Amino acid sequence: MNYPQGWEGICNYGILSLGLNVYLSNTMGLFAKKSIHELITEAAPDEKGLKRTLSATNLVALGIGAIIGAGLFVRTAAAAANNAGPSVTIGFIVAAVGCALAGLCYAEFASMIPIAGSAYTYSYATMGEFIAWIIGWDLVLEYAVGAATVGIAWSEYFNKLLGIIGVGPVPYEWSHSPFEKLTDATGAVTAHGIMNIPALFIIFMISLLLIRGTKESAFFNGLIVITKVSIVILFIVFGWQYINPVNHTPYIPAATTFTDAQGVDHNYGGIMGILGAAGVVFFAFIGFDAVSTAAQEAKNPKRDMPIGILGSLVICTILYILFAHVLTGVASVDDFRTSGKEASVAYAIKTYITGYGWLANLVTVAILAGFSSVILVMLMGQSRVFYSMSVDGLVPKVFSDLHPKYKTPYKSNLIFFVLVGIFAAFVPGDIVGDMTSIGTLFAFILVCAGVWILRIRHPEIKRQFKTPLVPIVPILGMIVCGAMIYGLGWTNWARLIVWLFIGFIIYFGYSVKNSKLKNKE
Ligand code: ALA
Repeated sequence: MNYPQGWEGICNYGILSLGLNVYLSNTMGLFAKKSIHELITEAAPDEKGLKRTLSATNLVALGIGAIIGAGLFVRTAAAAANNAGPSVTIGFIVAAVGCALAGLCYAEFASMIPIAGSAYTYSYATMGEFIAWIIGWDLVLEYAVGAATVGIAWSEYFNKLLGIIGVGPVPYEWSHSPFEKLTDATGAVTAHGIMNIPALFIIFMISLLLIRGTKESAFFNGLIVITKVSIVILFIVFGWQYINPVNHTPYIPAATTFTDAQGVDHNYGGIMGILGAAGVVFFAFIGFDAVSTAAQEAKNPKRDMPIGILGSLVICTILYILFAHVLTGVASVDDFRTSGKEASVAYAIKTYITGYGWLANLVTVAILAGFSSVILVMLMGQSRVFYSMSVDGLVPKVFSDLHPKYKTPYKSNLIFFVLVGIFAAFVPGDIVGDMTSIGTLFAFILVCAGVWILRIRHPEIKRQFKTPLVPIVPILGMIVCGAMIYGLGWTNWARLIVWLFIGFIIYFGYSVKNSKLKNKE
């Protein structure tokens, strides 16, 4: 099946009319699309006839397993400290609304293509190569840079664990990036980071695991889901009575600017503070798109997909709001800016929830296990996307070379170990976390726009699941995700623009010439 009038037609209509588009699309095939037939032929045999075995409950569990991680256990305190104080809870609501709207669009997108895949795969068949490239390149921010963020979070809790077992933490210099410094109460610098070795270590270990080959196991996923949800609930239940109302007053701080220890300015308090916090904690929701990629395995996609996506989002949102309410009530914003900046949950329990030291220890171990599984899923997602892009000729063949024995894309795993390792070892968690958020938000906006445009251009494509209230839902999705991007501030916009610019250079310098689809034309 080929769709003759695609994205280029829309551009000509004026929605994205850059003038140049017509020329480019005619001469370089920027908007060439892969046919759905081709996609099915290329898909791995076990992807072609995926069994419809997943119930709505399974999908909800899948979502929760992929979602809860560093966003909750690390970024919440950062958002409270830098952006919104206790009103980080409202930031969670904004982020959840954006995710729900984009998630409904994502589900329709996924259900149009009858194979398992990522936003990259779907957009190649529906919106053409250039948009697929942008999404695929953007997914590097979501998966690879996201994995680095969780690796850095892992390092914080690993240091706590070393303290618990009496070995003492890794020295500050060797567990922080060169852009971080430790200050004492007077503001004097007492240590400088050099390299985050524990973060590099966990990325290395998980990359090795991936090279050796690992299968996502439903049993293991179930175990992790139960562990993660249990510690969140335990913290809420035990912590509730330790909420100090002083820490919650005022709940929404007055708008001002806060300069953190690294000298970075943040909009603190008021609406901008909440939007900034929403952008930061949006990280905590990343991964729910895993539910939509299982559209072909759902027993009844029409009914189960919205339940799976919205159900996991609703459950996580409720847990997140309660968790953030307790965390910001138990410890103060000042704590999160100073001694409770790292491994904040364990810190809050140890310092304020007296008598529950065992809970802090349990939480630390559980969080380490939970983070490891999130890193695994993200690195695996990254190598899958680049595998597909490499098979399509958009990135070099090395990303799809398989190990002779393990049949894993081991070279890709090694390259990404180096790339992710550099981010994890040498860049602060706040920066990589916000880069992950902004990149993913941008991809969500493209997906929302794509679903709306495809409804107009290609109403004939069969959709197992249809986003309700089009175009209202996609438009609202773009507005809410756009507002979060706005809240993340100009330094993050600049990083996204630079990232996309690098992507364009690679696309026009390499991919255009090597694209298999174009060379076939
Ligand atoms: N949502 C995942 C996390 O918070 C990525 O770690």
